[in-house]
Amino acid sequence: MSERATGRVVTETSADRSDSGDTTDDGTLYERLGGHEAIASVVDEFYDRMLDDERVAGFFENVDMASQRAHQTQFLSSVTGGPVEYSGADMREAHEGMGITDEDYDVVGAHLDASLADAGVADADREAVMEEVEALRDPIVGR
Ligand code: HEM
Repeated sequence: MSERATGRVVTETSADRSDSGDTTDDGTLYERLGGHEAIASVVDEFYDRMLDDERVAGFFENVDMASQRAHQTQFLSSVTGGPVEYSGADMREAHEGMGITDEDYDVVGAHLDASLADAGVADADREAVMEEVEALRDPIVGR
């Protein structure tokens, strides 16, 4: 994997982010999570849980889940400092008009948190991902 081979080198866009969970001594949060394969597998578990949960499954009824999984993997990779460009819609636009409530948001957040924990992500890293995601609550619920 080129990102492994190049060690801590990240793209300019991710290197510019001061809130991406980077540390100077242990690579980016993206690297600590295990890179592309590990994040893709967390995302698979995350959407499997969502589709099994009747409180939120309905939101995804007419959604192309392969594209959804791919975009979510890109998105999480890019917010954690990975060398990946997210090519999907912006968070406010992607969730506009769906009527997502804070309660829905909490359900989804809990599934992400549990999926990270299941994958064996260290507590501090899991909390760092959840902080990045919590910062998106307002645009996602449309505030
Ligand atoms: C917890 C933080 C969340 C993150 C990081 C997130 C991220 C994303 C991303 C990256 C996309 C893909 C956009 C695209 O393909 O252009 C997306 C789409 C979508 N999200 Fe979220 N999301 C979050 C919360 C939620 C919540 C709470 C709901 C509903 C309960 C939700 C429902 C959806 C749906 C239905 C789509 C598909 C839109 C479409 O293809 O028409 N998301 N989200």
